[in-house]
Amino acid sequence: MRNILPLLALGLLTACAAPEPQTKTLREAFDGQFLMGCAINVDQSSGRDVVGDSLIVRHFNSIVAENCMKCELIHPEPDRYNWEDADRFVEFGEKHGMTIIGHCLIWHSQCAPWFFVDEKGDTVSAEVLQQRIKDHIQTIVGRYKGRIRGWDVVNEAILDDGTYRQSPFYRIMGDSFIPWALACAHEADPDAELYLNDYSMAKPAKRQAYVDLVATVQASGLRLDAIGMQAHAGMDYPDMTEMERSMQAFIGQGVDVQFTELDVNALPNVFAAGNENAAVENNFEYNQRMNPYPDGLPDSVQTAWNGRVQALFDLALKYSAHVRRVTVWGVYDQQSWLNDWPMHGRTNYPLLFDRQYRLKPVMDKYLTASAQ
Ligand code: XIL
Repeated sequence: MRNILPLLALGLLTACAAPEPQTKTLREAFDGQFLMGCAINVDQSSGRDVVGDSLIVRHFNSIVAENCMKCELIHPEPDRYNWEDADRFVEFGEKHGMTIIGHCLIWHSQCAPWFFVDEKGDTVSAEVLQQRIKDHIQTIVGRYKGRIRGWDVVNEAILDDGTYRQSPFYRIMGDSFIPWALACAHEADPDAELYLNDYSMAKPAKRQAYVDLVATVQASGLRLDAIGMQAHAGMDYPDMTEMERSMQAFIGQGVDVQFTELDVNALPNVFAAGNENAAVENNFEYNQRMNPYPDGLPDSVQTAWNGRVQALFDLALKYSAHVRRVTVWGVYDQQSWLNDWPMHGRTNYPLLFDRQYRLKPVMDKYLTASAQ
């Protein structure tokens, strides 16, 4: 007994001096600052990914659908909606008391091809497209009225140089498709928050274009709650000073901001420097040189990666009065879209949980800080 006592005392002292960081969850760490969200896939919302689900329920208080609410999946034909996966997703969130986010109503990518053409295959008129947008948005938003906190109404409408993307929406309706989509969503659920969402938001020309767009939307008296900054980041992009300037600019324009798709690509950048983006249509041929860490990140890369993740979370904390939510684009590394985009078949490490489902040490600083 005499020999055990000092050990017990030491144990007690250690426990008091160093609170166990892993006992806190991510959502507890950021409680009162912003919602901690993640994108979930259909395996997760249907309960097939049991381990993934246990992490989602424990660490996150908000979810967004990774794919199942996108047009080509939820509305594949003019008169046919596929509700099954989207219903499950919403039920999953409700069952676990989470803030549910809808992604996304109007987006050029993963949009069903029928949307822009008539039975003969000719491009539809602005009036027809307007009606289709209205039907699409009102049917989906209406179905989940009161259950979804907010919608990414328009995704990726502006290019990195600040000009409008020449999407079929833009080519047929001009920039009026954006206020129109916002108005339709608001009519369908007046209590739902409405967002515009995009990548590369740190780029000055794109920032300015969104500031101007927000001003136009506000001048028309339309509802717009926040700008979604996707925050698909890499080891050398975005420039965090520019990222902060964009946050300041959007907040200064009178809207909140949120990081909606945060992940940090740990692998070599396949884009030309300065041309990084998150356009899903990119598809580079596999190249071994671009997949250098199949067995794990070297310490130096891991340390640098930690710095990138922390820089983003530190920004969210700094502006937390105006940051509604930080959502990561997936839960654990194995399931990230970045293993296959923009190059298929790489082993990437972009998320907060590793391939063994362990929360990465990068978050310890926040878990510990919130424990004090
Ligand atoms: C991605 C999904 O993660 C992939 O599973 C899918 O194959 C392509 O789309 N910006 C967005 C998201 O707004 O919807 C995209 O999600 C990633 C880029």
